[in-house]
Amino acid sequence: MKWVIRISNEHYPLTREESELILGKEIEWITSWVGMVETSEFKVEELGKLAAGVKLILKFDAKIELNATHYHDIQSLPFSLSTHPDKKSTFAVRFITSQQIGSKLKRSDVERYIGGEIAQSTGLKVNLTSPDSTYIVIQTGRFLVMGWLQLETDYKIIRLQSPKEYPFFGGGAMKPMLSRIMTNLLYPHEPIILDPFSGHGGFVREVSQLGYYGIGIEISSKIAREANLNHKFRNHADTEVIVGDALRLPFRRRGILQIVTDPPYAKQSTTLGRDKSELVNEWLEESTAEKIVISLPHTMEIDISSKWSLEYTYKDYVHRSLTRAIRMLVVRI
Ligand SMILES: C[S@@+](CC[C@H](N)C(=O)[O-])C[C@H]1O[C@@H](n2cnc3c(N)ncnc32)[C@H](O)[C@@H]1O
Repeated sequence: MKWVIRISNEHYPLTREESELILGKEIEWITSWVGMVETSEFKVEELGKLAAGVKLILKFDAKIELNATHYHDIQSLPFSLSTHPDKKSTFAVRFITSQQIGSKLKRSDVERYIGGEIAQSTGLKVNLTSPDSTYIVIQTGRFLVMGWLQLETDYKIIRLQSPKEYPFFGGGAMKPMLSRIMTNLLYPHEPIILDPFSGHGGFVREVSQLGYYGIGIEISSKIAREANLNHKFRNHADTEVIVGDALRLPFRRRGILQIVTDPPYAKQSTTLGRDKSELVNEWLEESTAEKIVISLPHTMEIDISSKWSLEYTYKDYVHRSLTRAIRMLVVRI
């Protein structure tokens, strides 16, 4: 089955990577935000459930190249429905275009014309307030890509995870959207995922939200206690932050195969006097994990030559004095 994927967030190159990892195949990206892919309904549901930045998934129906005439006369668009919705009574049409680019097509013209064509060819009734099925028309540059809405993400759930929505958080804590995408770069997830520099526990909470067990290690007992109070505050059962040193884990390390982390780099972060870059390099050298997703300032040198292969890097401009490099490291066999 063919699907249209529309992603929507500031980290779209990362979300493209995240989506392809979850689907286990390449997506044909028509623009930065919209792609098409042939895959099973099961895989698409998995994508909708896990991926942070996927906004819409449509069951593909048609792709039409626009020409100048269509802009003046929408009725000249060669539209004919080729797939029918699963629910067979009422429908609505929604026209979506990128906010940055805008469209010369008028939303109401597109929705009325395509709605009329669908109603005529299927006998379905239009219901704009609570339709059984929604037909989405997306303009991506010179193409219209269309299909039946399969899934729409509710970002509110992810926003509720924002550090500011918890009683305790540190100044530089990462936004939950980025923490979720980074956690997904570990896909397929292991049952237990570690953050050895856990802070107030942003990553381990995402791990628990995705249905896995998140263990955090934090050197400051105050921060660890606050992190665990955060987990209680929202009933994150499958999570805990243990007081400890990332270099001396308080359990057998061989059992931990995956790590997602954001080691200390800000001036105010504690390292008990250790040099931040040396701490990270020593930890990387000792780690027995198979896959690590790590965020560091892009200027911080890390030594991955002998042990790790760098599978992916994404640079994220945060402010004038911080650009993060998010890297995916896989152990060399
Ligand atoms: C950048 S913060 C992590 C922020 C975190 N992602 C969050 O959501 O709050 C890094 C954390 O590592 C802790 N840390 C520093 N050295 C450590 C070590 N050797 N072992 C474990 N934790 C350490 C610091 O106390 C700090 O809380």
